[in-house]
Amino acid sequence: MALDINNLTIELCAEKSHCINVVDSLSLSVNEGETVSIVGESGSGKSFLGLSILRLNPPDISKIVSGGIRIKCKSQNEEIDMVKLNAGELAGVRGRLVSMIFQDPNTCLNPVMKIGDQITEAILAHKKVSKKEAESIAVLYLNSLNIDGKSRFRAYPYELSGGMRQRVMIAMAMVLNPCFLIADEPTTALDVTTSLQVLRLIENIKEKSGIGVIFITHDLTVAKSISDRTYVFYAGQVMESGNTEDLINNPVHPYTISLIKSVPSLSKEYVPKQRLFNIPGFLTGDDFNKGKCRFYSRCFKRNDECLRDIPLKVIDGKREVRCVK
Ligand SMILES: Nc1ncnc2c1ncn2[C@@H]1O[C@H](COP(=O)(O)OP(=O)(O)OP(=O)(O)O)[C@@H](O)[C@H]1O
Ligand code: SF4
Ligand SMILES: [Mg+2]
Repeated sequence: MALDINNLTIELCAEKSHCINVVDSLSLSVNEGETVSIVGESGSGKSFLGLSILRLNPPDISKIVSGGIRIKCKSQNEEIDMVKLNAGELAGVRGRLVSMIFQDPNTCLNPVMKIGDQITEAILAHKKVSKKEAESIAVLYLNSLNIDGKSRFRAYPYELSGGMRQRVMIAMAMVLNPCFLIADEPTTALDVTTSLQVLRLIENIKEKSGIGVIFITHDLTVAKSISDRTYVFYAGQVMESGNTEDLINNPVHPYTISLIKSVPSLSKEYVPKQRLFNIPGFLTGDDFNKGKCRFYSRCFKRNDECLRDIPLKVIDGKREVRCVK
């Protein structure tokens, strides 16, 4: 297993007197060579979870209350629990054993530093090589992602297209051959064609290197095209998880059912020219509160039974669902 998250709870106290479990009792595993999607709408805590796996959650307002984040790296013969590492040990692990493609390349790339230098810096932080050797590795890696490494090495991020900037982010994440990759909505800001190219690129990298991948997205059609298994996430909790194909063809949880009904290309009930289904209301901070199902305020099946914390249960030995029905 490449990643094994066990009963992880992370508390976030963004407001002084109000703390929420932004990640609540999360257990999730990813095998080597497997892609697992985390699907959920804006504000559900997907990025927070991704950042927390790397222990990049803001320490002044959040803390890991319980649980473990084990990463097993067969190729480098290492096994670690991210929760137990200190700051120095974490710096030695990030990028080398586990890497992340961040949600927005426009804010994550340094705008005043040439892209080649940004990749070289990442290599020099972990590998005992000369600057010249690191630069050659960076050029080769850019070439492998269809960016002419030699001519683009000295380009600034603003001189590249959105798709190229995303590939530079992929280069920075993958150049040290980590065992595990977290890709946080890497295609959201891209047009359909470029988005497809980036998805294929991530798939190719995974197939060549056999790494485990967590793919964070709000788009079920993207999850369907790229992942083996999917976890549907809402207000910090897994609502449903299972094999992606089965989950989309036969959703059980009211939130998954509602999400699928909102996507014409996935919904069996969609009739062309008919008004598209949408989930009433919005996800709000109150949905993270304890004492009720977190989807309660928007659920078409809710009743008084749902006014308590709802545990995850396993159905047919392979699907997990958090619902009283
Ligand atoms: N640094 C922070 N300070 C305060 N609140 C935060 C911080 N980071 C995240 N949050 C809050 O945690 C919750 C989850 O945010 P997160 O960014 O993980 O959502 P998301 O699922 O990634 O959404 P999106 O799809 O829009 O990227 C939100 O309510 C957000 O306001
Ligand atoms: S527990 Fe109740 S409110 Fe929550 S999803 Fe199930 S039916 Fe809806
Ligand atoms: Mg996000």
